Amino acid sequence: MDIKIFHYEEINSTNLQASALLSSFKIREPFVVSAAYQTSGKGQGSHAWISEAGQNALASFVFFPPQLKLEDNFYLSMLASLAVQDVLLSGNKGIQIKWPNDILADGKKIAGILIENSLLGKYIVHTIIGIGLNVNQTIFPEFDRPATSLRLLTGKEAEPEEIIKQLHVRLFERIRLLKSNSFEALKKEYLTNLYMLNQEAEYMKDNQTFKARIEGIDSFGRLILQMPDGRRKMFDARDVRLLD
Ligand code: BTN
Repeated sequence: MDIKIFHYEEINSTNLQASALLSSFKIREPFVVSAAYQTSGKGQGSHAWISEAGQNALASFVFFPPQLKLEDNFYLSMLASLAVQDVLLSGNKGIQIKWPNDILADGKKIAGILIENSLLGKYIVHTIIGIGLNVNQTIFPEFDRPATSLRLLTGKEAEPEEIIKQLHVRLFERIRLLKSNSFEALKKEYLTNLYMLNQEAEYMKDNQTFKARIEGIDSFGRLILQMPDGRRKMFDARDVRLLD
């Protein structure tokens, strides 16, 4: 597959650079921005994404999904999580998706995804799917959840560029198949791979912790939790955090 990759030894953030390239050059074909090192890697919310130079896959994948409505944006999140899982599963068990789109290996974080969409009316014109996947790094700073890498899982080093190409192939294929009549199948696949589905786990909202079970997600990607009193509640990714 022919793929246009803009590679940088150092850049602020591949998501920011992808966005800058889109506005300066009016590119209308899928492309990838990758970097060996990011000086301001962006994570979810206000978090930074910190990654040792040259060790990991850091890339943003730009696509122009046909006729995808903003209200259906979570399907991009689902397919991106599954594409990362596709790449990691070749040879590895225990890879799961932690809602909304963290990728865990044996409960430790191995990859994160940051999706930024651009809109025209109610449609997504382009999507920037930023993925940070830990490949060869073996020592990580302390986070809420311990981190791991492919090397720690398999004992082998891998080429970050190779992983980025594999991610592109999987994303490309899944986006090609993204049609509204495939949404249900996608959701089913996502749920099958969801960490803590139907299991009791501890959550935090507004500095209060509580135990609940994931029942599913709605079409906007909100988490449906069964609360200890049996009630069902929906949560936005901004509002609730899974602690276990
Ligand atoms: C998360 O917090 O889990 C999301 C992390 C996303 C990190 C990737 S690294 C490549 C791309 N460029 C960025 O600045 N962020 C994403």
